[in-house]
Amino acid sequence: MQPDPKDREAPIATILGALKEAAAPLSGEALAARLGRSRAAVWKHINRLKALGYVIEGSPRRGYRLLGVPDKLLPAEITQGLKTRYLQGPIHHFETLASTNDAAKELGSQNAPEGTLVVAESQTRGRGRLGREWDSPSGVGLYASLLLRPPLPPTEMPQITLATAVSVVRALRRVTGVVPGIKWPNDLLVAGKKLGGILTEMETESDRIRYLVVGLGLNVNNREFPPPLDLTATSLARVAGAPWSRPQILRAWLEEFEDLYDLFLNQDFGVILEEWRAYNVTLGQRVTIRQGPREISGLALDVAGDGALLIRQTTGEVVRVTSGEIAPGSGTEPGAKGLEVTSSSS
Ligand code: BTN
Repeated sequence: MQPDPKDREAPIATILGALKEAAAPLSGEALAARLGRSRAAVWKHINRLKALGYVIEGSPRRGYRLLGVPDKLLPAEITQGLKTRYLQGPIHHFETLASTNDAAKELGSQNAPEGTLVVAESQTRGRGRLGREWDSPSGVGLYASLLLRPPLPPTEMPQITLATAVSVVRALRRVTGVVPGIKWPNDLLVAGKKLGGILTEMETESDRIRYLVVGLGLNVNNREFPPPLDLTATSLARVAGAPWSRPQILRAWLEEFEDLYDLFLNQDFGVILEEWRAYNVTLGQRVTIRQGPREISGLALDVAGDGALLIRQTTGEVVRVTSGEIAPGSGTEPGAKGLEVTSSSS
């Protein structure tokens, strides 16, 4: 197992925080005092920050000044101002990975703690639901997987997935003003096009969850999509007309997720379900659900307390659907929901 990144990141987060707050250049001596270490240690950490892409001007007379921050999901950027109470990493950042969910599952099997987060600038084998691929170009999307250890049976997983979708909508609403619609169970859509998705996976042991990984993929600053995705996908930058800070969005998601996860653990799933209903674009629509070769069509009536979609078929029979996907073109009315832009601030 790798060393805990929290221990590795703490000194550079301190130096970075000091440089970001400072109105004037900071001397090596002042930074050493802030860090409680020698000036040589400061110099070493400044060089690490430079290697990560931070632009830092250093002059022996005037001291250090931060001139540029890399557009990356670096742990020090994510944790700066993060207001979560216990979902605080450790954060593992990678330039490229096969899949952040795979890496988080690996850490889960090695007893990494709840709150462990894996982020990558790009994925070579990003995975979506139902065995699909998740297009993960470098530096524009958010690819993040959060490790959780809820003391619950596996049957509770669908609720966590619905809660995750609500937490993403809350975060995007707060940071960007864009309010995506949720297509059952957890596709995030704007005007009928896919903005993001959630892939929840778990490992169980004797009828309880050993660990669970919530994987979030969001199209943030993508300007173009390769065909055929260009017909079905969108990004925040395209919707809101401006690039967004991925660390800021990730931070907001962690904060909103923690609030809803607490509610869920305290048995208040009803409150979350109400909010899911408010954001959904599926209920009240005629839908066709594909489950492999099988198709179920009918009116989407509601979502049950366990996350199942209730569908009234033409025969009048109401069936519960717990897995599968809503066929494209059914269950969404482009433009009806998922397009609201409230306020804009980056
Ligand atoms: C879907 O809509 O089908 C779910 C997409 C989930 C994609 C994310 S990207 C981060 C994490 N790592 C993966 O391999 N998949 C999820």
